[in-house]
Formats: sequence, C-alpha cells, structure tokens
Amino acid sequence: MEPQFNVFGTPREAARGVARRIAEKALVAKAEGAPFHLAISGGKTPEILFELLAFDFQDAIPWANVHISWVDERCVPETSIESNVGNARRLWLSKINIPESNIHPIQGGLKPEYEVTRYGCDLAALLPRSGKYPVFDLILLGMGDDGHTASIFPNQTDLLFSENVCDIAEHPVSGQKRITLSGITINKAKEIAFFVTGRKKAHLIKQICDRVPEALEYPAARIEPENGRLSWFIDQEAAHLLT
Ligand code: 6PG
Repeated sequence: MEPQFNVFGTPREAARGVARRIAEKALVAKAEGAPFHLAISGGKTPEILFELLAFDFQDAIPWANVHISWVDERCVPETSIESNVGNARRLWLSKINIPESNIHPIQGGLKPEYEVTRYGCDLAALLPRSGKYPVFDLILLGMGDDGHTASIFPNQTDLLFSENVCDIAEHPVSGQKRITLSGITINKAKEIAFFVTGRKKAHLIKQICDRVPEALEYPAARIEPENGRLSWFIDQEAAHLLT
C-alpha cells in the first residue's frame, strides 16, 4: 500500500490531523467493542499533539477504551526532563480521564536488561498478536534530523530486523541507553503514522518520498507496514521540497 502524505499549513494543523486520526480510529474500535491500542513516540514534535489531545480532544475520544504504550523511552527515571513517559503524563495524560490501568509505560528507571524483557512480555500479554509480536492499532512515529525513528539510529539498523519485540538501543552521540520497539514489531501495526514538522527535515522527507537509494540509510525510510497503512502528517515547511 502506498504511503499517504498529508500536508498541513502549520505544525498545529498537522497535529490536529493526527489527533483526528486517533479519534476516528478510537471511536471505530469502541463501536466494535474492542480496545484501541496506541503507541506513541517522544521528542519535541508530539508535544503540540499532546496539548491538543489534553484540551481540544479531551471529550472527543473514549479514553476508557484507549490503551497507551510507548514506541521508545530513554533509560532515565520518569521524573527526568528527558523521559518520554514523563513528558506525555505532564502535558496530556494527567489532564484527561484515562484509567491508570490503560497506561503501559516503559519503565526507564529500571535496568535496561530487565525492562526490555518485562515491557516486551507486557505488550505480548496485553495486545492481539501476530506470532509473538503485539499488533498495535496505531503507532505514532517521529523522525530525527539523522533519519532515525523510534530509537533505531542509522548506525543500528539491525534493530529494524531484530526478532525481539523490543530491544536496547544506544544513542550514537550521547551513548544514552534506550528501550525501543523493534522494526518488526512496528511494521506489524495496523497503521503507522509519522508526525514530522520543520524545514530541517524537508530533505529527508523528499528523499524518502522519492525512494532514492541513499534514503535507505535512514531507519525512517525502512518502516514498511507488513499489512497496515503508512501515513505521514507533515507541515508545509517539512514538505517544501515535495513537488
Ligand atoms: C525519542 C523519539 C524519537 C523522536 C525523534 C524526533 O525518544 O526521541 O521517540 O524517535 O521521535 O528523535 O524527535 P523531535 O520531535 O524532537 O525532532
């Protein structure tokens, strides 16, 4: 299935597009009597989305039917400013009426060797599976300036094909340990949505969209859902090189 590129005027409008996609899918799942399993990424880009989900969409989404997991997390305590879980709780989850039992954080403060197994087993027990891999209804991904996604960095593309549900990664510059879903787990999702904004990433998006050979060094270019849908939600700055 061809990737769907959705271009919006501003980052906020792109975030609203993502929020609408979450609402649409969560409502369908509820109507079907099934939980909605969403995995979110961290970094700065989704902060505008978290604020929209906390305020504009607070009453539009059946949160009691939504289960939140993480694509990746830095191996730091939740209280750290670097924590993806901590940020999502501060900006969004603390402001909506969602049961704590619906929130499935990567516990960044635990030993990575322990947490990578615990979190993978937790997901496999909680979600529908394809073989041993949990199948998310929607996975939200970002993309770094180097083309990484989740915590799969250009110098660790083996994590794209790791047979684990999730793996321990290492930031190539800081050496910070991270827990990340593997590429195989990500590609099992029913839908994968990249949310990327800003002019700095426009050349990456152009190369990925044009499928040029050098784009294959970017993990974000290697995300190809097995059976699901791949969508991009980008602002016009990130899209400015696309024809
Ligand atoms: C993380 C994210 C990572 C992020 C990209 C983009 O833990 O940092 O999961 O994959 O999505 O680095 O980050 P920005 O949105 O801050 O550019």
